[in-house]
Amino acid sequence: MSAASIVDIIRRKRDGGELGAEEIRAIVQGAASQSVPDYQLAAWLMAVFLRGFSEQELDTYADAMMRSGRVLDLSGLPGPTADKHSTGGVGDKISLCLAPLVAACGVYVPMISGRGLGHTGGTLDKMSAIAGYQTALPVEQFLANLRSVGWSIIGQTDDLCPADRRLYALRDVTGTVESIPLIAASILSKKLAEGSAALVLDVKVGSGAFMKSVGGARQLAQTMCGIGRRLGRRVSAFLTNMDQPLGRAAGNAMETAEAVDVLRGAGPQDVVDLTVILGAEMLRLAGAAPDALAGQHRIRDAIASGAGYERWCRGVRQHGGDPEAPLPISRERHPVRADRSGYVTAINTEALGVACVELGAGRRRVDDIVDPSVGILVERKVGDQVNAGDPLAIVLGAHSAVIAVKAAYTLDDSPPTARPLIVESLLQP
Ligand code: URA
Repeated sequence: MSAASIVDIIRRKRDGGELGAEEIRAIVQGAASQSVPDYQLAAWLMAVFLRGFSEQELDTYADAMMRSGRVLDLSGLPGPTADKHSTGGVGDKISLCLAPLVAACGVYVPMISGRGLGHTGGTLDKMSAIAGYQTALPVEQFLANLRSVGWSIIGQTDDLCPADRRLYALRDVTGTVESIPLIAASILSKKLAEGSAALVLDVKVGSGAFMKSVGGARQLAQTMCGIGRRLGRRVSAFLTNMDQPLGRAAGNAMETAEAVDVLRGAGPQDVVDLTVILGAEMLRLAGAAPDALAGQHRIRDAIASGAGYERWCRGVRQHGGDPEAPLPISRERHPVRADRSGYVTAINTEALGVACVELGAGRRRVDDIVDPSVGILVERKVGDQVNAGDPLAIVLGAHSAVIAVKAAYTLDDSPPTARPLIVESLLQP
């Protein structure tokens, strides 16, 4: 498409018009092939940010982004497929528990995951805490691992959704990240390209989430479910509580250890509960359980029998990792103590996530090296009663994080009314 036509497309979106499928594809293909320059893509993104998309435009955009690179064909696998995506939180290690458990129940789990983003942790950084685990595998090896063990977790490959990679990088520097249609299409295009027939979305809401309000999280969940279902996949979403970290551990190696605890039949209750609920929905969507209750029984059985843990060990070995190797967890520990008695009424979870990044568990710049050993152990959660001097949390790593962690806790005289773990469900009929 000529430069003049690209200008026309930008003008029309700027003025609130609806773009045709060919015009949207021209933008997306131009992004992938580098034939449309940054300044035109940036102008177009800002026009979309301000004017939004119709349903038709949204589906065409997500579909074109998915097709801008390789689309995996998983139809040759001898069983159904399902994946899960979380919009990101603090202490969210659920993917590590889910992948082997769902695989142990006969459903293949292809997970192409991300590194930490802003104050939130990333699945890849947690897997990288395991000695030898390879996250950068060619797609053919990913598919081979998936076929032999039932799950595989790797990082984004260059040939998947190249248009999204370029557009996302531009959004990051042009103030156009916080747009529900752009976020929804960006996430869904990558998940659709991965080839899974079923998808469960965990949309986090609260102080540690990108979506702070239930209204915004619901809108994002509805938009993603809509795209996925209209493009032929089975998609459910849960809005889940991120007003406090999930589980006790925030920080890569500690989170991996906590996920392994869950696979071995222990671990914090909220991590177990969310694993069981999301896993059951993956099984239901994939046709491996008739309903949520039956799915929950299957996931709990896979924990109790050790089948999930056995899958974990096999999968980790398949990726070159050693599941028996001790995880690198810092010995430098600093308790953060309550300076009064009362109840924990709130935890500023984004502030805890930022403190983790400052400790070295995440990246301030894309080329920062993550330290897997550092993080925060959450000793008291929202609603817990404390006495003055009790540890609220333990910092693993530099002492300097203690002040920020203490400031993230609010204590008061009476207990709060905490949000439930599952705030809302948008289930595929
Ligand atoms: N994660 C993505 O993959 N894309 C977005 O736009 C936001 C978060």
